[in-house]
Amino acid sequence: MLILAIETSADETAAAVTEGRRVLANVIYSQILLHKKWGGIYPSLAKRAHEEKINWVIEECLIRLLRNQNLLASELASRQKVGPVALRSTSESEGSLRHSLAQTSTRRVNLAALGMNLVDDVAVTQGPGLAVALEVGISKAKELAKKYNKKLIAVNHLEGHIYSCFAQNNKGNPSRDFNFPYLALIVSGGHTEIVLFRNHVDYKVLGETRDDAAGEALDKAAKMLGLGYPGGPVIERLAREVQNEDFHNFPRPMINSKNLDFSFSGLKTSFYYFLKEKPQVINLRELASSFQNAIYDVIVAKINLAIKQTKVNRLVVGGGVIANLYLRRLLRDLLEKHKGEVHFPPFKYLTGDNAAMIGVAAYFKARKKLFSKSQELDRIPRLNL
Ligand code: KG4
Ligand code: ZN
Repeated sequence: MLILAIETSADETAAAVTEGRRVLANVIYSQILLHKKWGGIYPSLAKRAHEEKINWVIEECLIRLLRNQNLLASELASRQKVGPVALRSTSESEGSLRHSLAQTSTRRVNLAALGMNLVDDVAVTQGPGLAVALEVGISKAKELAKKYNKKLIAVNHLEGHIYSCFAQNNKGNPSRDFNFPYLALIVSGGHTEIVLFRNHVDYKVLGETRDDAAGEALDKAAKMLGLGYPGGPVIERLAREVQNEDFHNFPRPMINSKNLDFSFSGLKTSFYYFLKEKPQVINLRELASSFQNAIYDVIVAKINLAIKQTKVNRLVVGGGVIANLYLRRLLRDLLEKHKGEVHFPPFKYLTGDNAAMIGVAAYFKARKKLFSKSQELDRIPRLNL
């Protein structure tokens, strides 16, 4: 069963074709450069960029599917004769150049239609996310489902991040099987949640952030330091240069509370006043490393508590922040201490937003016949798990 998945909840326009847990084709168009100067996602720009790119992203994904399935050989051969050669010719008049561009674009559309015929269902992120951005993916999914007579599967972006840990390449690797129950941690720019993942499509939220998400806090700290957006990767790099040590011991909000909730806005505020009051202490590496330590300490403490409370010592972690190798190491050490195991998304592209994870989650929903009717499928910007 092949699923075309679409993801447009934030600043990535993404499409993938999956078969069970295997990712057969995957395309991500990132808007990061567009939002960089705002230090975060600018909604109306995001909407327009999704609208501009969505057709190209889906077409490209379906063409890669055909290519990966070796269904494109004859088509590629004929394209080499007509397309690129014609475009490269310098003596060509503008009119015929436009003509061959149009030909290439028609061929892309035809190929994509060929790819759609191989697909069984269309999956799309329903929420949580930016309303105007979600809308673009959902209307495209509905349009395709109607045109090609496919079933629709609505996926929660957060269940996508959880299932990202179980995605496989097109050869079916890694082959590891499910071993429920798991604790699932989602750490991204919009979310910090601890979830009991009891079985397929069966979740119980145990704790979440009361204000800023971990990634959001990293992004804001980076902005205060003038390091640009997104903040997580640059803070990680700077911290590594000082061996990830802690120099300033910033506050660890709620680290000793007996629940599994988070709060990072107090940390952000105290970081702000620290920078204001001690401008002479501007050592970027030490500040970055100390800030990152405060965030990751709290995360590790909460996972430790969650393991003690639930007696579940198998952890899966999804979301953009788990690209961070230092956090991975801390969590590996913790799970080792509990004689348990921890799984991360097996490929880097699966940590940030992508449609492959939406396709994998959709497969397990389809197995339970959890399909959506087109007229009832609407964006839910504050969708919970
Ligand atoms: O999952 P994601 O791409 O989008 C959301 O759903 O929010 O996560 C984006 C977040 C950003 O806050 C970014 O700073 C953070 O992930 N991030 C990182 C790293 N790479 C991305 N945080 C820490 N270390 C990284 N290497
Ligand atoms: Zn995300």
